[in-house]
Amino acid sequence: MQLKSLQIGKTKTENNVFLAPMAGYTDFSFRKLALELGYGLVSTELVSAKGLEYKSKGSNLLLRTDDYNKTQAQIFGSEPYFMRKACEGEYLKDFNIVDINMGCPVPKVYKNGEGSALLNDIKLSSEIIKECVKSGKDITIKIRIGLKEGDDIALDFAKMAEDCGAKLITIHGRVREKYYSGEPNYNAIYKAKKAVSIPVIANGGIFSVEDANKMMENTGADGVMLARGAFENPFLICSLLSKNSPCELKEFMILHLKGLVENYGEKRATLEYRKFVGGYLKGIPNIKEQKIKLLTSNSIEEIIETIDNIF
Ligand SMILES: Cc1cc2nc3c(=O)[nH]c(=O)nc-3n(C[C@H](O)[C@H](O)[C@H](O)COP(=O)(O)O)c2cc1C
Repeated sequence: MQLKSLQIGKTKTENNVFLAPMAGYTDFSFRKLALELGYGLVSTELVSAKGLEYKSKGSNLLLRTDDYNKTQAQIFGSEPYFMRKACEGEYLKDFNIVDINMGCPVPKVYKNGEGSALLNDIKLSSEIIKECVKSGKDITIKIRIGLKEGDDIALDFAKMAEDCGAKLITIHGRVREKYYSGEPNYNAIYKAKKAVSIPVIANGGIFSVEDANKMMENTGADGVMLARGAFENPFLICSLLSKNSPCELKEFMILHLKGLVENYGEKRATLEYRKFVGGYLKGIPNIKEQKIKLLTSNSIEEIIETIDNIF
């Protein structure tokens, strides 16, 4: 894919390969490693705007970063007032870019009129963006292309977002009812990209260099956002940037584990780590026993010993 830097309001990124927000996965420890691997921009997972207003426990941990120039905060909500207050508040004060989640398909979020439910209401979505823009933050949005098979709201939302002052739009090329399955709709992204002059980032189903090239060629997007592919192949970013990976998978897995310990303490780290094991070990033959060990171990030493045995 063609690499280029992108201007997002006041921020100029080093490249156009971004790491997606992923709840429960893209925490501080993973984002830190991702930045070392070379992503142009990484994102916190979605954080409730109202939760920030009411100082909900854990928000600080979700928003933790030591690189505000390369990390965007993502918020979700449906009330323009609270969304703006979140942008102006203490928690987000050091972030330059605030992304608005308009794609989360999870029923709990959708039923509250948040996340992908906003795709039902372009007027409310425009009010949210306009209010957030008043905060002075560089506002971006992340959408899906609709709710049901056959929907395509990407073009209308892209134009609306640009008119309201958004600085970038990320399009996950699937509808809500598809969650994370199926080929992305390249044409929907292509049409939206052609209609606006702010950068458009294409997302969905990128697990290899070929997938990224196909996405860029078929959509004309300004860049790509990797999500599950970033876990199944942590060094995919290096291939896309045509550089050598800085370490082997074994070392990466151990660094990630240590990062989780630093972020959460030992007990929670062993539990959090389990989510990543399947992705990291995908494709390695004859490791069923060690995999089970990693998925059941409560001890950091034992996890490291098991990783040593695998490699
Ligand atoms: C476990 C998980 C958590 C996610 N959490 C978020 C989130 O917090 N905010 C968001 O905008 N998208 C979230 N997403 C969606 C991803 O950012 C991305 O749009 C989606 O996975 C499609 O990309 P992929 O097919 O390359 O995985 C999540 C996806 C997964 C699998």
